[in-house]
Amino acid sequence: MQKVTAAITATGHYLPEDILSNKDLEKMVETNDEWITTRTGIKERRILRKEGEGASYLGIKAAENLIDKSGLDPKEIDLLILATATPDMPVASTAAYVASEIGAKNAFSYDLQSACSSFLYGMSTAASYIESGRYKKVLVVGADKMSSIIDYKDRTTCIIFGDGAGCALFEPNYEGLGLQDEYLRTDGIGRKFLKIDAGGSILPASEETVAKRLHFVEQDGKNVFKFAVSNMAHVSAKIMERNKLTSDDVDWLVAHQANKRIIDATSRRMGLADEKVLMNIERYGNTTSATLPLLLTDYEKQLKKGDNLIFAAFGGGFSWGSIYLKWAYNS
Ligand code: UT7
Repeated sequence: MQKVTAAITATGHYLPEDILSNKDLEKMVETNDEWITTRTGIKERRILRKEGEGASYLGIKAAENLIDKSGLDPKEIDLLILATATPDMPVASTAAYVASEIGAKNAFSYDLQSACSSFLYGMSTAASYIESGRYKKVLVVGADKMSSIIDYKDRTTCIIFGDGAGCALFEPNYEGLGLQDEYLRTDGIGRKFLKIDAGGSILPASEETVAKRLHFVEQDGKNVFKFAVSNMAHVSAKIMERNKLTSDDVDWLVAHQANKRIIDATSRRMGLADEKVLMNIERYGNTTSATLPLLLTDYEKQLKKGDNLIFAAFGGGFSWGSIYLKWAYNS
């Protein structure tokens, strides 16, 4: 029997129009363009300012972009996975709303939450369903409205994050293209370094939690940076070693966009030239679940059928990992 692999066959994206530049941030907190640029590589980010709209708005737009570009009939989607750290609401599934709004009438759907690794883990889940033969079209959408959980009085976090969404369709492939291998990790030690203290089951919302600003992301940047640099580089090198890939064999590094210095450390460890490293952090900042698919849409024209892509991510939890995927189409 022919081996089934899970390939990405289409992508889509959406970015809100409003730009928050380093210059804008200089007026909001004590920071400056030079510090932000040299420490993170970020110049500007997008912010969703539409009243009453959350992550679903971004996800719906990204999915509609994929449908427009590819001609996909949404009724053929079997499953929609919404990777997000900022669901519309704590309880009602955001994925269910996105699926209904895009006309995926025959799909079931669910949210997948693992901070900045959500999309990477969603890729793994989608591929497993396809490889097992259970489903034929799985849409993974990464959408985050990070501005809804960021304290714009905290200069250590507000300079990093932005809003956006991207998505990728996974389908069966019989030429050996698509997902080849994965190496995914977690370590609960991370929750003391990167978290939102209130609003969950440990510390539900109260007047006190709001007054103390405990509903915003708080991170020990130095420690997160240390773990991110060593772990993202480690899994990326490991997946190359496991698949006997040299730096010449790797065509592209598709890495989570949290800090340019973390990405540079990873590509150095892999021995990759800068031209092979997909980068858009300067324009969008860290969009959490959207960074990986946004890289795919930005660079889609340069990706060629058969190219070897290494995906890598690191985020809260801690959660991190790497995926080796062969690109399946020319656009
Ligand atoms: O995607 C989720 C995972 N998250 C990450 O991967 C983020 C990982 N961490 C980082 O990217 C970096 O740690 C940051 C960008 C958050 C911070 O960069 P850093 O080089 O680690 O700076 P630092 O925290 O060591 O701070 C250095 C100095 C401090 O001043 P002192 O104590 O040396 O006087 C900070 O108070 O820079 C100061 N600082 C700032 N200065 C101007 C911190 N934030 C700012 C700022 N503007 N926005």
